[in-house]
Amino acid sequence: MIVSRPWRKAALVTHVTASVGWVGAIVASLGLAIAALVSSDAQTVRAAYIGLDLMGRYVLVPFAFVALLGGIAQSLITKWGLFRHYWVIFKLGITIFATVVLLLYLRTLEFLAGVARDPAPAGGSLEALRTPSVVLHAGVALVLLSVATVLAIYKPSGMTAYGQRKERSENRE
Ligand code: HEM
Repeated sequence: MIVSRPWRKAALVTHVTASVGWVGAIVASLGLAIAALVSSDAQTVRAAYIGLDLMGRYVLVPFAFVALLGGIAQSLITKWGLFRHYWVIFKLGITIFATVVLLLYLRTLEFLAGVARDPAPAGGSLEALRTPSVVLHAGVALVLLSVATVLAIYKPSGMTAYGQRKERSENRE
């Protein structure tokens, strides 16, 4: 797809800002999740779970979608293509997986925030909120998105059979 240089640069800025912003927001979520798990102060635990729910809905989800759609756009408007290089396919897989898990996990975050907001939680005591699940999810997401960042920077050279065919036919033209 032919796109002028300034537009290509603008699209890259959007993609990098959203995707690296997503990584930063996951680091912040991990901090809140650890605070919720280890703090002995009930107010801190409540505030952390309420913050995690808001962060999930209003920061992580928008960043995830802009990173995903921006990444697909980058692939289509540059020489990289969507299915020509293994590193692009890996990034696509990692990003789709992380986005789907995030969307499914929003329900858990909503439940935890609901219990945290309740002065006399019906679903269990505040102590029951101390779940390692949020730390685990944020930690795995951080590892996966760090792999996507490394792939983006190093761009390992492996090409798919489709990519090789495309390159050969373009060289012949
Ligand atoms: C959270 C996930 C992602 C992260 C952290 C991320 C990060 C980055 C970064 C930092 C760059 C700039 C690298 C450079 O200019 O040298 C980049 C470029 C790129 N990304 Fe992503 N990305 C993500 C998801 C995706 C997805 C899902 C796709 C496509 C399926 C994608 C495709 C691309 C392409 C093709 C470029 C190269 C653009 C160019 O060289 O002009 N990215 N990405």
